[in-house]
Amino acid sequence: MPETRPTTSPHFDAIRSLLGDTGLLTDVSDTASYATDWRGLYQGRALAVARPATTPELAALVRYCCENNIPVVPQGGNTGMCGGATPAPDGTQLVISTSRITKLRALDRTDMTMTIEAGVPLKTAQDMARDAGCWLPLSISAEGTAQIGGVLSTNAGGNNTVRFGNARDMVLGLEVVLPDGQIWHGLRRLRKDNTGYCLRHLFMGAEGTLGIITAAVLKLVPIPRETEVTLCALPSAEAALDLFARFQAEDPASLVAFEYMSGTGMDLVLRYIPGVNLPLADRADHYALIELSTPRARAGLRAMLESVLEAAFEDEIVLDAVLADSEAQRLALWKIREEHAEAQKRAGANVKNDVSVPVSASPAFMAQAQTAVEALIPGIRVAPFGHMGDGNIHFNLIQPEGADGPGFLARAHDLMEAVNAVVRQFDGSFSAEHGIGQLKSDMMADWRGGAELDLMQKIKHAIDPRDLMNPGKLLPPGDQG
Ligand code: FAD
Ligand code: MLT
Ligand code: ZN
Repeated sequence: MPETRPTTSPHFDAIRSLLGDTGLLTDVSDTASYATDWRGLYQGRALAVARPATTPELAALVRYCCENNIPVVPQGGNTGMCGGATPAPDGTQLVISTSRITKLRALDRTDMTMTIEAGVPLKTAQDMARDAGCWLPLSISAEGTAQIGGVLSTNAGGNNTVRFGNARDMVLGLEVVLPDGQIWHGLRRLRKDNTGYCLRHLFMGAEGTLGIITAAVLKLVPIPRETEVTLCALPSAEAALDLFARFQAEDPASLVAFEYMSGTGMDLVLRYIPGVNLPLADRADHYALIELSTPRARAGLRAMLESVLEAAFEDEIVLDAVLADSEAQRLALWKIREEHAEAQKRAGANVKNDVSVPVSASPAFMAQAQTAVEALIPGIRVAPFGHMGDGNIHFNLIQPEGADGPGFLARAHDLMEAVNAVVRQFDGSFSAEHGIGQLKSDMMADWRGGAELDLMQKIKHAIDPRDLMNPGKLLPPGDQG
């Protein structure tokens, strides 16, 4: 049950004097949505929610928290999948939301960069770039809500990683408020800058445990002149991999997204998301959504796409395919893919395994992991999907139809262990793109122990010696600071 008592604290007046009245939410009815996560896995209780409007305000607030020993939890769009932005249930942690820090500070079409503040939703940032004739190619299904600061702090991956890399690959500079309230002014927009340790990369993937990102310089690319999207029905996951290899061989520079969807995952989208229909003649057990684009003029992408698909039909790699003929059709095809997470949430209790294996191993991984989890829970719905072009499969598991949700979630640990045992066989990762948060912190010692974890702990201790910056996240319990 969420706590309903109003929160009071001797610090509130001081914080209001730094941020103004609108900068601090203290009523539980206002703070409740900041104290739980998108998946509904965690129910915390915030001391309050602070909403600074500028970097200097945020820095003054963090300095005050440091001086007064108040632990803080940075929060952006609160779409994270691992509970990283959810405060502890004890009501001692102050959530610091970046949602009022939303300026586009600069956009330079010669440098092909934008300098943008942390609270801007990713979709808004994409639109700002497009309005200036450029493309910010970072794209995730939560982009309407996820914010630049959260996306960089989790080093989000998403749909276009296969061509443009993860979030960190698009960053030239950062501005960060450190745990003692100092501001690191690292907003350089240099393409070359070899000056010692590359500090910006420390903060990306740190999930708010080392400081709060307040602004970033992002790399932009030219707007595509041609874009093609196709949804293909496939006979097997091996066929999907084969198709991926064919596009890579034909024109790797134009392959922007290669997304896999299982028949089970597709069925859930068609069942739970109103207005979505399968634009193919028959249901299949496997699908791929592929986007190609190029900034080159007269590149002939449609002809290339058709010729790869024709050969794939002949070789029985592809059973059926639909090509988008308009922007509206392109968006409709993408909607089928983007609604997977929401459909699975509506389908009942689910366990996510955001894992990666070498790209070539993804079909074998899926087959072996499916056998392992079906042995644990007969009738479990196995709905893998995701970024096959990066070897990042969301090996998501949904409770058997009609089963008891809490009972299924009680087996979450066993299910994750079973999947991770297969991931290990392929030298994969237990956390591909969503991060660690509080969901996977107890797995860190097992997967990243020894010198690697020791280094991480030393870095945390050096930057945040009093463990006030997002305590209880990322590092194993008891090992912070
Ligand atoms: P939050 O959830 O608010 O925070 C995430 C973490 O970052 C927390 O640890 C928080 O403390 C920290 N943080 C937030 N802001 C800051 C800041 N300014 N400075 C320092 N730390 C900060 N993720 C992917 O990688 N790829 C996907 O394809 C993808 N698809 C998704 C689809 C859906 C439908 C949903 C709900 C989520 C998806 N996610 C995906 C997960 C999530 O959207 C990403 O992790 C996203 O980057 C989180 O951004 P946010 O602003 O919501 O961060
Ligand atoms: C996505 O790619 O849609 C999300 O990262 C996957 C998920 O919900 O597990
Ligand atoms: Zn994903």
